[in-house]
Amino acid sequence: MEFSEVVRRRRMIRHYSDKPLAPEAVERILASALRAPSAGFSQGWAFLALTDPADRARFWPFVPTRTEQTPTMQDAPLVVVPLAHKAAYLERYAESDKGWEDRAEARWPAPYWYIDTGMAALMMLLSAVDEGLDACFFGIMPDHLEPFRTEFGVPEEYAPIGGITVGYRADDVPPQGSRIAERRRGAAEVVHRGHWGLHS
Ligand SMILES: Cc1cc2nc3c(=O)[nH]c(=O)nc-3n(C[C@H](O)[C@H](O)[C@H](O)COP(=O)(O)O)c2cc1C
Repeated sequence: MEFSEVVRRRRMIRHYSDKPLAPEAVERILASALRAPSAGFSQGWAFLALTDPADRARFWPFVPTRTEQTPTMQDAPLVVVPLAHKAAYLERYAESDKGWEDRAEARWPAPYWYIDTGMAALMMLLSAVDEGLDACFFGIMPDHLEPFRTEFGVPEEYAPIGGITVGYRADDVPPQGSRIAERRRGAAEVVHRGHWGLHS
C-alpha cells in the first residue's frame, strides 16, 4: 500500500471480528515499533504483546470503558501495551557523549520516554493498516495501572502509555467519518507560516 494511503486510511477502529491474524503479520507489526526514533537512541520502551485468548481475557478488566462501550474490542486477536522506561533515558543521557550525570529530569525539554514510546505506538498503528488490518490506541486509566502491573508482572519502572488493539474490523462497523471529517482542524488553523499567527 502507498504510504500516503496508509496515512489517509488510518483510523481508530473499535469494532472487531475474531478472525485470527497471520503470525507473520503480528511479528511485522511488533518489529515496526523497534524502528521508531528515540532520543539518544535510548530505546527506553518495552511492549507487552497479548495474543493468547486467555491472556487477552486477563487484560480487558483493566479497560472497562471500552469493554462497556465497544465490547468487540475484546475480539481483536492482538493487544499490545507499549511501556515507557524513563530510567533508560536518564542512564543513556548520563553517558559521556551527553553528560547529564546528575540525571535531573528538569533538563528534559519534554518527557522523551513518553514521546518515543508514542512514536513506536504510531509505527504499529500504521503497520497494521499496511497489513490490511485495523487498530486502535486507547488509554488505561490511572486506577487500573497498578492492578494491571501486578496481573502481568510489569516492573514498577515501566509505565504503560495505553493499549493498542489490532485485528480485522467487524463487518458491521458503524459509520464513523463525517463527524471526524467536520471536526478535523485544517492547516490554515494550526500551521503558522514564518511567524506565529500567519497562516498563509
Ligand atoms: C494518546 C491517545 C489516547 C487515546 N485514548 C483513547 C481512548 O482511551 N479510547 C478511545 O476509544 N480512543 C482513544 N484515542 C483515539 C482518539 O479518540 C482518536 O485518535 C481521535 O478521535 C481521532 O480519530 P482517528 O484516530 O480515527 O482519526 C486516543 C488517541 C490517542 C492519540
